[in-house]
Amino acid sequence: MRVLVTGGAGYIGCCVVEELLKRNLKPVVLDTFYWGRESLEPYEDRIEMIEGDCRNSRDIIYALEGIDAIIHLAGIVGEFACKSNNRAHFSINVESTRTLINCCTDPEMDLVRDFIFASSCSVYGNVKGLYDEVTENTPTAPLSDYAYAKLKSEKIILDAGQKVQHFHPTILRLTTIFGWSQRPRLDLVTNLFAYNAWKKGKMTIFGDGMQYRSLVHVQDVAAALVQTLVAPRFMRSNKIFHVGEETNNKTVKEIAEIVKGVVVGAEAEITATQPSDRRDYKINCQKIKNTIGWNAQYTIEDGIQELVEKFDALDLNWESNKYTNGSFQYI
Ligand SMILES: NC(=O)c1ccc[n+]([C@@H]2O[C@H](COP(=O)([O-])OP(=O)(O)OC[C@H]3O[C@@H](n4cnc5c(N)ncnc54)[C@H](O)[C@@H]3O)[C@@H](O)[C@H]2O)c1
Repeated sequence: MRVLVTGGAGYIGCCVVEELLKRNLKPVVLDTFYWGRESLEPYEDRIEMIEGDCRNSRDIIYALEGIDAIIHLAGIVGEFACKSNNRAHFSINVESTRTLINCCTDPEMDLVRDFIFASSCSVYGNVKGLYDEVTENTPTAPLSDYAYAKLKSEKIILDAGQKVQHFHPTILRLTTIFGWSQRPRLDLVTNLFAYNAWKKGKMTIFGDGMQYRSLVHVQDVAAALVQTLVAPRFMRSNKIFHVGEETNNKTVKEIAEIVKGVVVGAEAEITATQPSDRRDYKINCQKIKNTIGWNAQYTIEDGIQELVEKFDALDLNWESNKYTNGSFQYI
């Protein structure tokens, strides 16, 4: 099976490439390579890499030749990056999905039947006082442009799934990711805490730290994306699944405590400034466990330990905007 991975050089994408190779599937990466190609160096001789933009139908149509399935990851991630790159955000996070779906469901073209989309649990916003736990049936209430865009893309994809008989899309709503990837990201709460604890001995918590996040390791996400793709169609076609682990539903304060357990001597400082990110939810992940049989393998401690080992071992400029999507200028 040849699998097109859009955004395959990114934080999640390079782990997906590794996971596909483990299962003897053939990854074809379509990426603008905003962060470079280094993340794919270990797999270079076993994969195809296409430099292209998934907003561009010509790039997509050429990339789709001989493709059996798509894992669509390309995007601008996080509210801050989306707000400061508004046009790029709309064109990538919404319009590229429409273009991609048009190309892979057009009867003139070779139909791509299987499609996995990386959506986000951000679509639920803040459910404090409304629902103790969020399932895939909980009403959505996005708080950010980023989360709205994810919902718009989901709708475009699921509408096509309803209309085109042989098209079998699946939406995976990912919880907040942590952990090491060949393309590191330090702008995710656990990774940022781990870095600040390691570098400065201090983490900053905005607000009271009582807002819940649901966490999952990046390698577990890659496994979930691929395991869902290879599951029988009746289990996944036109369905939405959460990807996460209930024991990783933690308050921001609890995440800082876990980091303190690994980076001995680090302190967490609470500031009165309210967090700009008002998301607050605990995610139920039973559906993917019971249907697809996927389970998270990594604990939060595992992920932090591994990050600290990488910070110690690698001489990289961790302050570079390469590792934080929010300060990058997208075009
Ligand atoms: N990291 C998380 O916590 C998280 C959570 C939920 C959902 N997601 C979703 O997962 C996907 C991947 O996120 P990530 O953390 O790997 O981000 P990332 O920024 O590390 O990777 C995104 C990749 O997409 C590529 N890209 C961007 N625009 C492109 C375009 N127009 N055409 C082709 N390639 C393009 C970039 O070059 C990059 O390699 C995104 O859609 C994101 O919204 C991420």
